[in-house]
Amino acid sequence: MPQAIFHFPTGFLWGTATSSHQVEGNNRNNDWWAWEEQPGRILNGHRSGLACDWWGGRWREDLDRARETGQNAHRLSIEWSRVQPSADRWDEDALDHYRTILRGMHERGLMPIVNFFHFSLPLWLSEQGGWENDDTPALFARYVRKSVEALREYTSTWMTINEPNVYAYEGYLVGLFPPGKQDLQATMKVLYNLLRGHAMAYREIHNVQREARVGLALAVRPLRPAGPLTFLDSVAARLGSQFFNDAFADALIDGKLNMVFKTFRVPEAAGTQDYVGVNYYTMDLVRFNLLRRKDFFTERFFPPGAELSDTGFIANVPEGMFETIRWARKFKLPILVTENGVEDADDHLRPRYLIEHIHQVWRAVNYNWPVKGYFHWTLVDNFEWERGWTQRFGLWGLDVDTQQRIRRRSVDLYAAICRQNALSSEMVEAFVPALLPRLFPG
Ligand code: FCB
Repeated sequence: MPQAIFHFPTGFLWGTATSSHQVEGNNRNNDWWAWEEQPGRILNGHRSGLACDWWGGRWREDLDRARETGQNAHRLSIEWSRVQPSADRWDEDALDHYRTILRGMHERGLMPIVNFFHFSLPLWLSEQGGWENDDTPALFARYVRKSVEALREYTSTWMTINEPNVYAYEGYLVGLFPPGKQDLQATMKVLYNLLRGHAMAYREIHNVQREARVGLALAVRPLRPAGPLTFLDSVAARLGSQFFNDAFADALIDGKLNMVFKTFRVPEAAGTQDYVGVNYYTMDLVRFNLLRRKDFFTERFFPPGAELSDTGFIANVPEGMFETIRWARKFKLPILVTENGVEDADDHLRPRYLIEHIHQVWRAVNYNWPVKGYFHWTLVDNFEWERGWTQRFGLWGLDVDTQQRIRRRSVDLYAAICRQNALSSEMVEAFVPALLPRLFPG
């Protein structure tokens, strides 16, 4: 078999993504900590606890791991409840701590991308209604401004919000995230305020730092009609996609938040992205089903035959990555894959998932679509929200009791890709030879 290699453009960003509550540990002053204390909220009664102990200093050894394995960027988030522990107080020490971490990234050759909201709210703010409260967008913009002033020396690439759609649906429609509501009106209100908050923060960041590049991470879950020729399946897929994938995203283009049931006008949101971040994990087929009133008459399921992750959370459907990037082209902006990964404790699926998804990113790059980087979720196993520690997304495993890191085989695969800025037939042969004939025919 001849050797072949799929190159990525020079300067392509290769990294991993993390979030404050999932890795820092001891985030006692946010709504998630309180949520974890309520019986029945987190699978097996798990707690974030020390998480990966980044706040205690283990960010150093983990970012050493990132550097030593060829990564050149890292996406992290700032914890609002640390920066603003109460409504009337900024914690300068916390900001200093983040400055130290960001400096640490530079020392390791990792370009930081800083995100301001990744699902966790300060307790004081959740007690006054969180994102349902119309005052929250302005408070968010103030916190963002304060943080950018403190951190501007270390980055100019920012992200306002991670997955506004997932946050609103899980917290307000499905009820698995705090505050655990199941209320369509509240869901739409929260999306509306997240959008306003994003737009205000976008402007604040640019006021402080002219050259800033600001975006957010949009969770994209392609929905395909189960019967492509079945009219009702197509309508169900289209409406589902409008509600989940397109509503918030399109408002960033034209200022109209069209959530199928209701449209809000938020003109100030139009044109508030300098790049597009997309998180892609998996996709669904959609079938119209009259019996599923509560689910808006739709049924969603994974493509039959797709390989499933440990807990059945993710189906390995690499074409969805290509579809997601194609979808993101509508913004006509640079694109970053800001999350992609799979829960896989014994690492039997991850190498295949990694290769197949990165191959799809490469295909997109080959069409000259402006993909600028890929961030794997995640570096070390971390606290997976209401699923606790049951899902293991890390390149490195974590023994939660001892804080010991366990190197998975995927580390070496991802390191080879990052170092060579390429995916080669040699790597595929070494890690998942069964993929060779499909990826490198000849
Ligand atoms: C995404 C979240 C991230 C992590 C991954 C598995 O939806 O942004 O925090 O939980 O899923």
